[in-house]
Amino acid sequence: MFTFAKAWVEERGVSLRAVTSSIRPPPPSSIPPSRSGASVALEDVSLSVTTEAGAVEILREATLSVAAGEFVCLLGPSGSGKSTILNLIAGLSRPTSGRVRYGDGGVTRPGPDRAVVFQDAALFPWLTLRANIEFPLKLQHWPADARRARSEELLRLVHLWRFQERFPHELSGGMRQRGAIARALATDPAVLLMDEPFAALDSQTREILQGEVERIWSATRKTVIFVTHNVREAVRLGDRIVLMGTRPGRVLHEEFVDLPRPRSSNDARVATLATGIARRIASEVEKVAREEADDAWVAPGDHRPGDPRRQLGRGI
Ligand SMILES: Nc1ncnc2c1ncn2[C@@H]1O[C@H](COP(=O)(O)OP(=O)(O)OP(=O)(O)O)[C@@H](O)[C@H]1O
Ligand SMILES: [Mg+2]
Repeated sequence: MFTFAKAWVEERGVSLRAVTSSIRPPPPSSIPPSRSGASVALEDVSLSVTTEAGAVEILREATLSVAAGEFVCLLGPSGSGKSTILNLIAGLSRPTSGRVRYGDGGVTRPGPDRAVVFQDAALFPWLTLRANIEFPLKLQHWPADARRARSEELLRLVHLWRFQERFPHELSGGMRQRGAIARALATDPAVLLMDEPFAALDSQTREILQGEVERIWSATRKTVIFVTHNVREAVRLGDRIVLMGTRPGRVLHEEFVDLPRPRSSNDARVATLATGIARRIASEVEKVAREEADDAWVAPGDHRPGDPRRQLGRGI
């Protein structure tokens, strides 16, 4: 089954280690006490890769410090290196220069203490929801009764206990994402890395799951690093928002969200803060659009007379 699972996730461009964080600690005889959050930091991290087209600078001197138990949201245009940062913290890639720190040490490889949740739930379609949640524990050779106890605890946490024998295709998108969160929590990570986990969901389901994540975070006090393109989602969830810029990816700005919890996306204070942040990133997003668009593209509101191509790159 392991080989099949490996092939299945890798076909989807995801490493099985990212899904299961399967480095093996000794199997517990019972459920160990919950691990609370750990600090994470990027210290002047740069990452370049060599492609057929030449060297690509993905991240330049990114510095980011996340406290244990903090909820940090990463916002920024496509290609600004948000997923790359999660991969570096997960230990799935290594920086070209600089250091990635976890607690008192450095990140050198993936581990069960740092779990990733992706946009596409990546639940194994041939396993029931409960078996999916127990999968990483099986890899760690947990005994069957400890696995069962752990999965039941998590199924209750994400309100899916009644659906435990269902297969992923028998669940809604929102349920699958909750299942993926439960699976990520199975190995009791200190850090939860969430890469646009609700991007594919409708706005109402998204709102409900934001509440779920906030509740789970409050209950577990894990460190959460949450990537989103949705500014309101970031303001609703984050203690702090980190804005990323692109070409190359870098940290542009940080903003603390000093609003009481639980929050609602419809709260006027959330909306006001989100509008301010959206303005800040608009120019970065436009920069990407201009670079990626064809010659005929004109920025919205850019109706000045003349050849639109003359406007390309203006102010960059
Ligand atoms: N292995 C790689 N080889 C070449 N380029 C890469 C590689 N991995 C990432 N990149 C490039 O690095 C940049 C940052 O990628 P990354 O996926 O981190 O961006 P992102 O901010 O998560 O974008 P999105 O919002 O679209 O998910 C992109 O331009 C991407 O094409
Ligand atoms: Mg990404």
